[in-house]
Amino acid sequence: MQNITTKLKKLFYLWKRSQVPLKQPIKISRIDNLIIFLICILISIISSYKLLLISPLNITGIFSWLWTFTEVLISSWILILVSQKENPTISSRQIIFVISLLLAVQTAKLTLASTISPLSMIIPPALIISQGMGSITALAWVSIASFSWPDQSVAINNNLFFTILICASVVSILGGRIRSRAQLLQLSIFVPIGSFLSQWILIGQDKVFFVNKKEFIFANGDIFSDSLLLAIVMLFTILFIPIFESIFGLLTKARLLELADKEKPLIRRLSLEAPGTFEHTLLICGLAEEATRMIGGDIDLIKTGALYHDVGKLHAPNWFIENQDGSRNPHDEIDDPMRSAEVLQAHVDEGLKYARKNRLPKQIANFIPEHQGTLKMGYFFHKAKEKNIMINENDFRYNGPIPQSKETAILMLADGCEAALRAMNINASDKEALQTISKIIYSRQKDGQLNDSNLSKGEIFLIKRAFLNVWKRIRHRRIQYPKSKNNTFS
Ligand SMILES: [Fe+2]
Ligand SMILES: [Fe+2]
Repeated sequence: MQNITTKLKKLFYLWKRSQVPLKQPIKISRIDNLIIFLICILISIISSYKLLLISPLNITGIFSWLWTFTEVLISSWILILVSQKENPTISSRQIIFVISLLLAVQTAKLTLASTISPLSMIIPPALIISQGMGSITALAWVSIASFSWPDQSVAINNNLFFTILICASVVSILGGRIRSRAQLLQLSIFVPIGSFLSQWILIGQDKVFFVNKKEFIFANGDIFSDSLLLAIVMLFTILFIPIFESIFGLLTKARLLELADKEKPLIRRLSLEAPGTFEHTLLICGLAEEATRMIGGDIDLIKTGALYHDVGKLHAPNWFIENQDGSRNPHDEIDDPMRSAEVLQAHVDEGLKYARKNRLPKQIANFIPEHQGTLKMGYFFHKAKEKNIMINENDFRYNGPIPQSKETAILMLADGCEAALRAMNINASDKEALQTISKIIYSRQKDGQLNDSNLSKGEIFLIKRAFLNVWKRIRHRRIQYPKSKNNTFS
């Protein structure tokens, strides 16, 4: 009996350890909530009001309207929940964008259903959503846009409906993975070809008019012109994606890869003016990438975020140990721990200024304050204590916020471990390296820095293993930092 109790206790302990810490959802202002609600109501009205116009209107008609209205309202709400689940840092602007696209499509179905093929109405928005918000949000959007038809009199051919669903789903899935504009162009050519072939097989060859001068493009039902129009609309959509990116703060894979280009002026400046920080950044990229791969996070996001996390050090590169040659340390010269702490905080504040100036997306700029969280600047705090200055511990802590996503949390852990791993003896064993990593990660956990990150205990375990793997790879070709007691402020 006692054995079972012990086992149950152990199971309960393991289950508790694997749980994700509770995190407050992103707050949306009242005004934004009201706007989102009104758009959802508008979508429901547009999708259902025609049912009220059927005469004579009887009780069944009213119930049918009420049913459709509620169904669309609930579907829109589910869409918002899905987008929030897939994008934990989603802004109200982006939610408004997703449901506004739904509103636009429902309106287009009402006004243009008899002239434009539904393929060209549903697939291009699915491409934008999958690129900016991910495949699952795009699939949720596609299912609502495909199943809800406001005008009952427009009969959708089952085969056409099937083609729309398949093509839009393919675009949603591939769109979320595509990593370059060239691949997007390929998609905008192959999807219309696919839609043409599937309609040809399913709907029939008699509807193919290769040359129909009268209604070449806007001839609904003409398979060739419908597919051609789809290709044109998709090409235009690709042209407009960068505009949506900047207006709604969307972050596509292509944009992430563009930003990760080391020839970008800010990164180039970092490599020239703060070479030590640049090296530190590259090493962190390796650690963070491996850890993110282990837990199944967004690798492109963390690689780009890591590249920009310390750009603020450009404001005073020689105040940071990795850029010092060992001969001169400005912190020793001023001998003022408070002032030194201000310089360290400035690398976050200045970094945010660089991010604004260079129009970095919010998701990338978030790495700048969150990689430091509200960590204590231990070295200068103790120095101030030694000098018996009346101090408040909070003056020696970064302003935060603490990491709000798994990716920024991984970067904080990689940032903490990098200097320690570099400074480790070349003959150190794997066990010693793992102990060092665990110690640093535990100190961050104990300090509450990971509370909002959504990282589970199991994922933290995987991150430790990933850091160890990278350490094993780099230990033979690493460059040691000058051994200095100041290495706590990198
Ligand atoms: Fe930093
Ligand atoms: Fe750093």
